[in-house]
Amino acid sequence: MERILELEHKVDELLSLLEAFKELNSNIAINDVFENILLQMVQVVGAEAGTLWVVNEELQEIEVSAAYGPTSSAMLNIKLQKGEGIVGKVITTGKAHLIENVAEDPDWAKRVDQSSGFITMSMITVPLIAKGNSIGALQLLNKKKENHFTEEDVKLALALANQSALALHNSQMYDHLYKMFISVIRTLAKVLDARDPYTAGHSERVAKYSVWIAHRLGFSTGQCEELYKAALLHDIGKIGVSDEILRKPTRLTQEEYELMKQHTVIGATILSNMEPKSSVLNAIQTARSHHERIDGSGYPDRLSGDEIPLFAKIVGVADTFDAMTTVRPYSKGHTFEEGAAELVRCKNTLFDPNIVDAFTSILEECNYQLDSYEVPGFKKREIL
Ligand SMILES: [Fe+2]
Repeated sequence: MERILELEHKVDELLSLLEAFKELNSNIAINDVFENILLQMVQVVGAEAGTLWVVNEELQEIEVSAAYGPTSSAMLNIKLQKGEGIVGKVITTGKAHLIENVAEDPDWAKRVDQSSGFITMSMITVPLIAKGNSIGALQLLNKKKENHFTEEDVKLALALANQSALALHNSQMYDHLYKMFISVIRTLAKVLDARDPYTAGHSERVAKYSVWIAHRLGFSTGQCEELYKAALLHDIGKIGVSDEILRKPTRLTQEEYELMKQHTVIGATILSNMEPKSSVLNAIQTARSHHERIDGSGYPDRLSGDEIPLFAKIVGVADTFDAMTTVRPYSKGHTFEEGAAELVRCKNTLFDPNIVDAFTSILEECNYQLDSYEVPGFKKREIL
């Protein structure tokens, strides 16, 4: 009978493990990965609290990336030097560590308990090793129901840690590449804006306004990120327009205007060289169609209504608003209120009314103090 109970317990543990792996593989948002890893670990091993420590190579520190338990919010602020305490030792040696009574261990960094207010009695610390590198550690505190953790618990923690480390490593890589990608796009947009002294910051502002609108229209965070990239690159085709035209202090002649209009087609061509194609499709469409207008009066394809891609329609509104409200060679720049009134005047003819309404509702909500407007949660995603 006892043997059967033991086996049942094992099956439960394995099912929890399986659940954990499914979660990890389906999720690449880094903070969610941290939390999932920790939560599954705490549940499977049966701990009162747990902490996920991740090495920050740039700062040479070990940071708490997720914490679970009664004092988890205090734990999130704790940082250790590389090599410090039990966590530091486990990361350096790559070896798991089991302590029955923490107070008697010479490696215990006392300040962790002091600053979190949690009383640690028993503890397991296992390294997270991916591709031969210790990238962090998982720490489980106080065994629920029993007095202390056993070697069996350590084995279980290690099994989960091995899989978790790989998921964590993949997430970190993804996060790293994403940050790099966004910074390259931002740099490109800055280089572009710098060619024309009148358009400094234009691409970044258009991208910001576009995301505000999209968020108001109920776009998911992923869609907002897509739009942000596309909006940053909307005018990239101006690279192919000569300085003479781009920086001309007076109004363009008809012929010059025709050349200027080509920036949409040039932009789409430039972006269509980027790989993978699926990740730049929205940016290509936006670069080509952000000057299309719903009554068919725009360029380059004279699209109308729903023929115009949604991203391009949003960027078109944000772009027009920014062009109206910044100083240009031929215009001293309108106020935000005047810009909004002009968008309203042209809704249904030039602009999609839902997009204009979404944008003007934001402008009214922040009382036209655009600097103070923030979309919650977007700073952390590297956009805005
Ligand atoms: Fe443009």
